[in-house]
Amino acid sequence: MSSEKQTVLVTGGAGYIGSHAVLALKESGYNVVILDNLVYGHRDIVENVLKVELIVGDTTDRELLDRLFAERDICAVMHFAAYIAVGESVAEPGKYYQNNVHGTLTLLEAMIAADIKRFVFSSTCAIYGVPKEIPLIETHPKTPLSPYASSKLMVEQILADFDIAYGLKSSIFRYFNASGAHPNAQLGEDHSPETHLIPLVLQAAMGRRDNIAIFGTDYDTPDGTCIRDYIHVCDLASAHVLGLEYLINGGETEAFNLGNGNGFSVREAIEVAKRVTNCEIAVVEKERRPGDATVLLGSAEKAKKLLGWNPKYPELSDIIAHAWQWHQVRHGDA
Ligand SMILES: NC(=O)c1ccc[n+]([C@@H]2O[C@H](COP(=O)([O-])OP(=O)(O)OC[C@H]3O[C@@H](n4cnc5c(N)ncnc54)[C@H](O)[C@@H]3O)[C@@H](O)[C@H]2O)c1
Repeated sequence: MSSEKQTVLVTGGAGYIGSHAVLALKESGYNVVILDNLVYGHRDIVENVLKVELIVGDTTDRELLDRLFAERDICAVMHFAAYIAVGESVAEPGKYYQNNVHGTLTLLEAMIAADIKRFVFSSTCAIYGVPKEIPLIETHPKTPLSPYASSKLMVEQILADFDIAYGLKSSIFRYFNASGAHPNAQLGEDHSPETHLIPLVLQAAMGRRDNIAIFGTDYDTPDGTCIRDYIHVCDLASAHVLGLEYLINGGETEAFNLGNGNGFSVREAIEVAKRVTNCEIAVVEKERRPGDATVLLGSAEKAKKLLGWNPKYPELSDIIAHAWQWHQVRHGDA
């Protein structure tokens, strides 16, 4: 990187993963501008913790994007803005294709018009569908099981086409279960509604909900519950900075899994949470949910080799401990 600070536009930077990436970018010496419509993002986090410019607006607003790119010297875009609830996407697919696909396409067209050709994209391991082989590698067949996952795979295809047509280069990250919080306890996961296991478990530990539901106890796993690969949000953030620098150094479009390759069952994750929090957590056993794979585990060897990525917090106990600190700071009086 040259000594002059380069500016990165981070869409969805007021949200969970985007906010951690903004901090990591700042710490690596970049200027950051956030574009977030604040439908789910947190203004207080941007103003009090991140302290970067926030443009409140939508990725579907082409006029706003054209103005934004004309007025600033943006070297790359990191794109986190999307709707993320798998179940909602099944009930309301149009909402997901509109925001996640049309919003991204509008952003990409504005980038090409402004001659900005580096893009870091939040994809998901959900594009693989039911694994044929574990651990999942990037070339595994893609059979998404929800409109949410399909919306991400569609964008991956658009990115391949934009590379061929316009030379737009992308680092595409397929996250496994994003979790944890910044160890400084000032940033963390605060979705509403919350659909992710670890924050739900911690809400139960804190008494903010009565219990935690386990969906399916008859899977073909040692304790009958689904197995997932949990990845610390700060490790996701560091991968994004590496993915950006890879593009700045002339890297080609590539997709990378981001996971730890360690599997924890739902019951095991709840047990770790009980130990970390020292609280009772009531469990309710429910039927399986359609579309939940038995085991999702990823190999991140490609990101390690090509980007030099090295996760700092691979232990689930650290991931949950950091999330617990954050929950106590954010919701301590609830
Ligand atoms: N959380 C996970 O476990 C996970 C796993 C895989 C992939 N992802 C992907 O990572 C990204 C970030 O996820 P997150 O958990 O931080 O979600 P989040 O909801 O916390 O953050 C998304 C942010 O984008 C904003 N936003 C949404 N649509 C927008 C639009 N059209 N214009 C401007 N802003 C908009 C929201 O207000 C929010 O602040 C998403 O693209 C998601 O699909 C998340």
